[in-house]
Amino acid sequence: MNNTLTITDNRTGKQYDVPIENETIRALDLRKIKVNDDDFGLMTYDPAFMNTASCKSRITFIDGDKGILEYRGIPIDVLAEKSTYLEVAYLLLHGKLPTESELKDWTWNITHHTFINESIKQVMDGFHYNAHPMGMFIAMLGALGTFYPDAKDIFNQESRWKQIYRLIAKVPTIAAFAYRHRIGMQYSYPDNDLSYEGNFLNMMFKTTELKYKPDPVLERALSILFILHADHEQNCSTNAMRSIASAQTDPFSSMAGAAAALYGPLHGGANEMVLRMLNEIGSINNIPEYIKRVKAGEFRLMGFGHRVYNNYDPRAQIIKKAAYDVFEVTGKDPLLDIALELERIALEDEYFVKRKLYPNVDFYSGIIYQAMRFPVDMFPVLFAIPRTSGWLAQWSEMLDDPDQKIARPRQIYLGARTASYTPMSARNGKTEFAKA
Ligand code: CMC
Repeated sequence: MNNTLTITDNRTGKQYDVPIENETIRALDLRKIKVNDDDFGLMTYDPAFMNTASCKSRITFIDGDKGILEYRGIPIDVLAEKSTYLEVAYLLLHGKLPTESELKDWTWNITHHTFINESIKQVMDGFHYNAHPMGMFIAMLGALGTFYPDAKDIFNQESRWKQIYRLIAKVPTIAAFAYRHRIGMQYSYPDNDLSYEGNFLNMMFKTTELKYKPDPVLERALSILFILHADHEQNCSTNAMRSIASAQTDPFSSMAGAAAALYGPLHGGANEMVLRMLNEIGSINNIPEYIKRVKAGEFRLMGFGHRVYNNYDPRAQIIKKAAYDVFEVTGKDPLLDIALELERIALEDEYFVKRKLYPNVDFYSGIIYQAMRFPVDMFPVLFAIPRTSGWLAQWSEMLDDPDQKIARPRQIYLGARTASYTPMSARNGKTEFAKA
């Protein structure tokens, strides 16, 4: 089979052969398609990267039509059943499952970087009492970077791993500190005897007890939720991470940008919006009217739809199952009934069926987090903690990829050219610029 694409330029009648590799053509190969020698050459126009691969990756595989998600080739449901979050973080970053001793070293390294410099607490203390924890989390990532000038040494492997330990270890600490600041409680320091998830629960919820004992069911549920959120290939925040870091920015600053992308209601902010939506619906009886308004385009059904899944998001299925284990301990959240009924009605409705809109990861995660006593505005932070390993794996892969350079898309310029400069005295406010 000839693995090329033949393109005829009807403007000139010329034909071009473009190689096809991995079912993809290189956009740069189109540049040779020109009307004359002065012509810049053909570009592709792809707002929102709907059909553009920005990198080659070996980390996460998604088949959106079949509802498949794999980390390093291992199906997500297998990992959710058999692994812990830290083991999965190792898998994402090292490309293989750890041996027992490798996992022990990895866990030790992460456990022994959980403390943050005491000065950083003063930055935290400067936030207003009702600051959104995700805003604090983003700011703290940037602030943390100022403590580690060695983080700029991104091509030094030893330094790179050190920043990876630091970031995976410290994100639960800054997340929990943001929460404690918000509710006006003294910070609860990391406890190195506990697991990654158990320690996070300790830093969130410890009060007067001498030693916090996490509930093993909740600890396990948190591990599953963290596994499901660890990576999702080239999503908006990962693209932000890669794009910022392509300027050789340090990983703390790059991750602050990635977290900012995650904060948006169409991305990691969606789980918070789902809970607000379920509360707004309030009762099963109100669902048909709510769906009617969604279909009329008034607003979207949060936690539904996905750019890459045209099928049930495999993560949503696993979370739905985990929810019942959590409710055994915490008691059932009444919002679950509304969510189940909303899902049932939406999945039968022609509007959602036609557009292949299914529940995504955020549809059920919020209900579990709420049952575990996490406040709604912590939800995006709970997404950011495990996504840290994914961001860092993608960052490291990018730095080692000889194809990558500073990210710099092209544009189609449709505005004015060589326009005359009108002096202030002659401006009448009526000048109109061409709209793109
Ligand atoms: N409710 C109602 N209609 C929807 C929804 C929704 N949640 N999502 C998509 N649609 C409709 C949309 O109006 C459009 O209809 P039409 O063709 O008539 O104009 C069609 O479906 C295609 O939508 P789109 O906006 O072109 O799809 P997209 O791929 O750009 O958007 C999305 C993907 C996730 C941003 C979108 O589905 C959405 O806004 N969902 C709600 C927010 C949400 O749950 N986000 C979490 C995503 S999962 C976590 C993560 O990985 O970030």
